[in-house]
Amino acid sequence: MSSELHNDRLLRALLREPVDRTPVWIMRQAGRYLPEYRELRAQAGSFMSLCSNPALACEVTLQPLRRFPLDAAILFSDILTVPDAMGLGLYFEPGEGPRFERPVRDAAAIDALPVPDIGSELRYVTDAVSLIRRELAGQVPLIGFSGSPWTLATYMVEGASSKDFRHIKALAYDQPEVLERLLNKTAQAVTAYLNAQVEAGAQALMIFDTWGGALAHDAYERFSLRFARQIIEGLIRERDGRRIPVVFFTKGGGLWLEQIAGCGADALGVDWTLSLSEARRRVGDQVALQGNLDPSVLYASPHVIQAEVARVLAEFGHGSGHVFNLGHGVHPQIPPDHVAAMIEAVQAQSPAYHE
Ligand code: CP3
Repeated sequence: MSSELHNDRLLRALLREPVDRTPVWIMRQAGRYLPEYRELRAQAGSFMSLCSNPALACEVTLQPLRRFPLDAAILFSDILTVPDAMGLGLYFEPGEGPRFERPVRDAAAIDALPVPDIGSELRYVTDAVSLIRRELAGQVPLIGFSGSPWTLATYMVEGASSKDFRHIKALAYDQPEVLERLLNKTAQAVTAYLNAQVEAGAQALMIFDTWGGALAHDAYERFSLRFARQIIEGLIRERDGRRIPVVFFTKGGGLWLEQIAGCGADALGVDWTLSLSEARRRVGDQVALQGNLDPSVLYASPHVIQAEVARVLAEFGHGSGHVFNLGHGVHPQIPPDHVAAMIEAVQAQSPAYHE
């Protein structure tokens, strides 16, 4: 595999090295807002049949790159493949989101969970990574990802998406050490899974802690951040002479930004609830920042999108260390033209911040 990378803006910005303009990619850039994705999913029959077939996962990964001049590809998969490989039985109820056949709610179920053998159970993911790397041919870097142990555990314990997290919060307060055993096991699986993605060709890694912001402040350190730190310490950080940057994203974690900045990641994802100027002031030179346009801005008209892009770029200000992104995933109802307007605006406006 040729390791020459033609566009390394993403990797450079994540390491706060100089760039000619701010790199841009979008969380959920491959997905339902694209008609070509909806068509392929209808043919394949389901979301999981796309994820579990490396050729289809590769095709979906590349779809947004054919439409837009993005600075990164992100593996098309899901965070819930890891608990699926631990035997929980993942399925998607149409229109309802993810479900597990066998949620784990007590010490007996948690202690019986295996740490999965990534090489066999998640081979379809690492095969997709190798294939995508080959097909990208150095056009842009490929981001691999996983969920954080806490975020994965919310699904593993609740058995589905939840608004109140009642089962996992009851467990956290009644039997914290049982929950810690689950998080520890999941952290081991996630570390092995991310390293397997790097070995297969992932050039940057992102850990999604989508539900970290649901924790009380001491509980955030105890049940989320600590395990993120543990994972990051165990990751392969260099490959083919290049550093593999790691992004850690706690949605709703703005209150704890200084604390999160010490987790060992090269960059932090930031949602839209705080300004990048404040975020930058609070983390200093410790980490780069990725974000943070409110995804709902993309419902507005292109001239508003341009103005909001201008605002986000100005909030970060001059110099490297910013990767433009939304503050969370793109919504399925967004017109692709509006995504194009956002990317064009970043390309047109950001060089001024790197002179
Ligand atoms: O960003 C990308 O383009 C890469 C692909 C990706 C998906 N899921 C594809 C997907 C990534 C990085 C994820 C991560 C993920 N999955 C997270 C963390 C990030 C976040 O969005 O908070 C979470 C919490 C999940 C769990 C998950 N997967 C949920 C709750 C759902 C259903 C809700 C929804 O958006 O429909 C999924 C399904 C899913 N994962 C879809 C896609 C494109 C939609 C499946 C479909 O119906 O086609």
